[in-house]
Amino acid sequence: MSQIAEVTIDGQNYQFPVIEGSEREKAIDIAKLRDQTGYITLDSGFKNTGATKSAITFLDGEEGILRYRGYSIEDLAEKASFLEVAYLLIYGELPTQEQYQQFEHEVRTHTLVNEDMRKIFEGFPVNAHPMGVLSSLVSAMSAFYPDTYDSTAEDVTDLHIIRLMAKLPTIATWSYKKSKGHPVNYPNNNLDYCSNFLSMMFALPVEKYEVDPVVSAALNKLLILHADHEQNCSTSTVRLVGSSQANIYSSISAGISALWGPLHGGANQEVIEMLEAIKADGGDTQKYINMAKDKSSGFRLFGFGHRVYKNFDPRARIIKKAANEVLTKLGVNDPVLEIAKQLEAAALEDEYFVSRKLYPNVDFYSGIIYRALGIPTNMFTVMFAIGRLPGWIAQWKEMRTNKEPIGRPRQVYVGPAQRDFVALESR
Ligand code: SDX
Repeated sequence: MSQIAEVTIDGQNYQFPVIEGSEREKAIDIAKLRDQTGYITLDSGFKNTGATKSAITFLDGEEGILRYRGYSIEDLAEKASFLEVAYLLIYGELPTQEQYQQFEHEVRTHTLVNEDMRKIFEGFPVNAHPMGVLSSLVSAMSAFYPDTYDSTAEDVTDLHIIRLMAKLPTIATWSYKKSKGHPVNYPNNNLDYCSNFLSMMFALPVEKYEVDPVVSAALNKLLILHADHEQNCSTSTVRLVGSSQANIYSSISAGISALWGPLHGGANQEVIEMLEAIKADGGDTQKYINMAKDKSSGFRLFGFGHRVYKNFDPRARIIKKAANEVLTKLGVNDPVLEIAKQLEAAALEDEYFVSRKLYPNVDFYSGIIYRALGIPTNMFTVMFAIGRLPGWIAQWKEMRTNKEPIGRPRQVYVGPAQRDFVALESR
């Protein structure tokens, strides 16, 4: 028998249905709350509010569990390729060999970007942040594919999905090449997804570039770990923008902008800058922990804490292990890795962090690996966006397939009561 939630307002009882998800999560369905009571709910930051029912990703914040379409992140990170995981997220099942070959072929044959996009790109200053460039150019893609506007056709959408998956890495590397004063590289369709990205990033026209399989494998794992994370800030942005029937490029561009924030995907850049500051300051990790505990300092321990995980972020565990393995294999000795470990150990023994259940999150160690792969700090959040793209696409597609209504939250007005207009000459 389905459960009922009862609310008593001004002495009157109201009942609302309780729904239960496939992992026994429960929610009070308040779709009729305002109609029945005249009241709305208020939940700043949506800490207690579910925006949708989704079949894509399951998180258990207390147990530190993350699954994509029922498969554990640990299994996928170890055994799958990023494109396999992208297919799984977007289409709901792991691809058969034939489906995978077709999907990979489609992506490989769409990696070229319209040369006129390069003219737009050339207009950016050399020090433009790569996230601003990426968001702008992804939005500009809608101008190059006017059939985007017929966003309900399934086959049209599938082609745009392929275009986004294929062209984001190509566009992402342009900023880096420009910042180095190097010519941009064209994609090489003989390479797999991760190797092609590395080649576009680091190949130079003056010598042959060989992709290091250790680096390519590490990148594959990092992209998988970032691929989706249910209704986080940037994904909710993609869904909200898409709910107005805006095209997929505009929706994804909005998600890239949301991810850029230092409290969200921008944290991976902040973490490395924080660790570098601690190193420059003599490695006094306790000083920075004390600052993070002192509200007046305005300082936060970037890479720590999470809205959902009140246990270790399972991705942080995998990335921490991978950081040791990759740096050892590459023979990289990065002193900030040791500082990160000291900071983690000290914080996890400190009552302030323990009582607030603040643990390392996905951003705490990822930058250390990106740096070992030769990726510059200001490109870290771009790497997050490349990883998160299939998740954003999957969530956008689910929202559209389920014909969800346009998102339009209510508010509680706290401004001035009605007042008469006063003419300018009288003010
Ligand atoms: C991502 O949502 C997702 O799934 C995001 C993500 C994804 O895959 O999409 O997982 C990716 O964004 C990871 C988070 C990256 N951000 C950071 O590392 C920035 C540092 N962390 C925080 O700013 C914070 O922890 C958030 C933003 C991640 C979560 O913030 P909440 O849930 O709104 O928690 P809060 O700010 O209300 O903090 C609760 C308490 C507060 O203290 P009190 O008011 O109880 O005294 O914990 C404190 C906060 O001051 N706190 C921190 C802290 N994080 C929270 N204090 C010091 N350092 C921190 N990092």
